[in-house]
Amino acid sequence: MKANINPKVTLIGAGPGDPDLITVKGVKALRKADVILYDALISRELLEYAQTNAKLIFVGKRKDFHRYSQDEINELIVKNAFEFGNVVRLKGGDPFIFGRGSEEVEYIESFGIETEVISGISSSMAVPASQGISLTKRGVAESFWVITGTTSERKLSQDVYLAAQSTATVVILMGMSKLNEIVSIFQQFEKGDIPTAIIQNGTTKNEKLGLGTIDSIVEVVERKELSAPAIIVIGEVVKESNKLKSFYENINFDKY
Ligand SMILES: C[S@@+](CC[C@H](N)C(=O)[O-])C[C@H]1O[C@@H](n2cnc3c(N)ncnc32)[C@H](O)[C@@H]1O
Repeated sequence: MKANINPKVTLIGAGPGDPDLITVKGVKALRKADVILYDALISRELLEYAQTNAKLIFVGKRKDFHRYSQDEINELIVKNAFEFGNVVRLKGGDPFIFGRGSEEVEYIESFGIETEVISGISSSMAVPASQGISLTKRGVAESFWVITGTTSERKLSQDVYLAAQSTATVVILMGMSKLNEIVSIFQQFEKGDIPTAIIQNGTTKNEKLGLGTIDSIVEVVERKELSAPAIIVIGEVVKESNKLKSFYENINFDKY
């Protein structure tokens, strides 16, 4: 480690996609960074807050780029902190919601490096909100579950079975490749007519929306060619949205 270097790593949640949905505290920390390691889902506009001499390192998964493993990312963060000092790890949404933020913190701190986490607005809440979907609503939904569609073993989380038996709003991240499985679980519990929304690239200019029910959503996804990154929202609150209400009043599947 060079003299005068004070290694520190700040994990910042960049928000769901719209660059204005980062926190003020996150922007202040970005402005001070010597090095920024950023993911694929973050808006590139956020990098404009960086100092002109800051080192920017893309560590996301994208075609034509080296795919960094989580171990490689961890090592890169520590190496840069010792070499340059103030490192920012910029992650989509919130670092602690399916973001592997805690693994990074544990690894970094094992080297005696100070860390700070600046929470971000998770896509699990902000993306439904951008479509007027209130995840809880008096008299309609008393709770919501946020579940991963793909666990570390690449399987659907068993929590979907439990959630499908509740009256909660269910929000599924990373679930597009498991949509058929998700649908059949809800159908097993006779929930075929529950309103279901799929929002791809929410809060960005590439946003795409698919609306239907559990029974119709697979067909909607095929017809509208929806794919990851997307959020699946299942629950009566979907049809309560002022923006989406008319769809459910008329159930006209050609409209969206
Ligand atoms: C690895 S998880 C990271 C979640 C992130 N930490 C958060 O709090 O939003 C990535 C998944 O989040 C969801 N996601 C993130 N940004 C999204 C967006 N703008 N629109 C729709 N889904 C999004 C998708 O399900 C995507 O596959």
